[in-house]
Formats: sequence, structure tokens, C-alpha cells
Amino acid sequence: MASGQLSRDEALECSQCRHACHVMLYSNTASKLFGKIPIRHIVLMQMRFDGLLGFPGGFVDPSEETLEEGLTRELLEELGIAVPVSIEDHVESRFSTSPSASSSSNKLILHFYVKKMEEEQIREVEKAASSIASDHGLEVLGMVRVPLYTFESGGGLSCFLSHSFIGNARSQLIDSLLRLHLVSPKDIRRAIQSSQRMQE
Ligand code: GTP
Ligand code: MN
Ligand code: MN
Ligand code: MN
Ligand code: MN
Ligand code: MN
Repeated sequence: MASGQLSRDEALECSQCRHACHVMLYSNTASKLFGKIPIRHIVLMQMRFDGLLGFPGGFVDPSEETLEEGLTRELLEELGIAVPVSIEDHVESRFSTSPSASSSSNKLILHFYVKKMEEEQIREVEKAASSIASDHGLEVLGMVRVPLYTFESGGGLSCFLSHSFIGNARSQLIDSLLRLHLVSPKDIRRAIQSSQRMQE
């Protein structure tokens, strides 16, 4: 396991730790941008209240709920739909290295999940998130889809990656796109390189 990573069980043994769970929801799609560029997959992230991009989810209290129950509760608050997430959707758990997390006395463990849905369900999530979700306009300013293509101009995924992300959400996104083969390694490399040029 990569450094800082631990298994779900090891993570739960730490009773002093704080825990947060986030999930990448995605689907396949046949839609085409401008009627010609296949977008292939819908990947959901959110614009947070602090102006950073991140995944839906939040703090979970394992003394009161399982990690997955807590995540589903957070999804109800942030998306307006209690999307069920299960242990099988768990991808990794790791200690947070962000400065704000380490200034507190209790360590923060970040749990990450990925869940594949039908395109129709993703559309329902988007609809609910901007209408009935209790956190809409408050903790969550809006759901966004991640562009997975990169144009010659650098527009698309590379531009998206040049924005600011909470914690390690940017690498969670990149790792997931690679692992699930949503974007080819070559295209990811190209997008990362031109996103770095954009930030200079
Ligand atoms: P409150 O109701 O205000 O407590 O927010 P919340 O429960 O929705 O918590 P939040 O989603 O902000 O997540 C809790 C902590 O997890 C944050 O302070 C970040 O340190 C971290 N975090 C938030 N989003 C992400 C994410 O997408 N990926 C990772 N790795 N960490 C995140
Ligand atoms: Mn148009
Ligand atoms: Mn929340
Ligand atoms: Mn949250
Ligand atoms: Mn919360
Ligand atoms: Mn809250």
C-alpha cells in the first residue's frame, strides 16, 4: 500500500481519529459535445462553499453509523438523494496531510469510494442536488461534470485540473480516471502537463 494508506479495518481501529468519506459517482454516456465529440463518461464533482473542487461526502462518526451509512447521510444532505454506497465501493483510506487537519489534535482519516451508476440516475442526482438538497447553495455551490477530453488548445481536462482542489481530491480524481480506464494514460499525462503550464 502507498505511504499514508491504511485498510478500512485498520482505519476503524483508531477510535481517536476523525473520519470523512467521499465518493466519485460516474456513469457511461453516449452523448456528444457539439454533436460530435463523444464525452463517454459522466464524472461528478462539486464546487464547495470554500471555492475548492471536491467530491460529495463529509465527516462520518463511526461510533454512531457505519462509514457507508454516514457517507449516504452526507449524500442525502449534499445531493438530495440518499445514494446507497457499500463496502464494495471502497477504494482507499489514508491519513489527511492537509495543514488544517494536522493542526487539530485528532488525526483525520479520509475514506474514498467510487460508485458506477446509470446515466439516468446521475441525471436525477444532478436535478435533486440543485433543487431539493438541503446543502444546495450553502456547503455545496453546485455539482459539476469533469471534462475528460483535452483539446489542442489545452481546454478540457487540463484546464479543469488547473483549478484548486480540497485535500487530495485532485489525485483521487486522476487515480480513478486511470484505474477505471475512463481516460488513457497518455491523455492523462498530456492533460497534467498542460494543466501545470496553465498554472504558471
Ligand atoms: P461540515 O458539515 O461542514 O462538517 O462538512 P462535511 O461534513 O460535508 O465535510 P467535508 O465534505 O468538508 O469533508 C471533511 C474534510 O474532508 C474536509 O475538511 C477536507 O479536509 C476533507 N475533504 C473534503 N472533500 C474531500 C475530497 O473530495 N477528497 C478528499 N480527499 N478529502 C476531502
Ligand atoms: Mn452552445
Ligand atoms: Mn456535508
Ligand atoms: Mn461535504
Ligand atoms: Mn457533515
Ligand atoms: Mn454540514
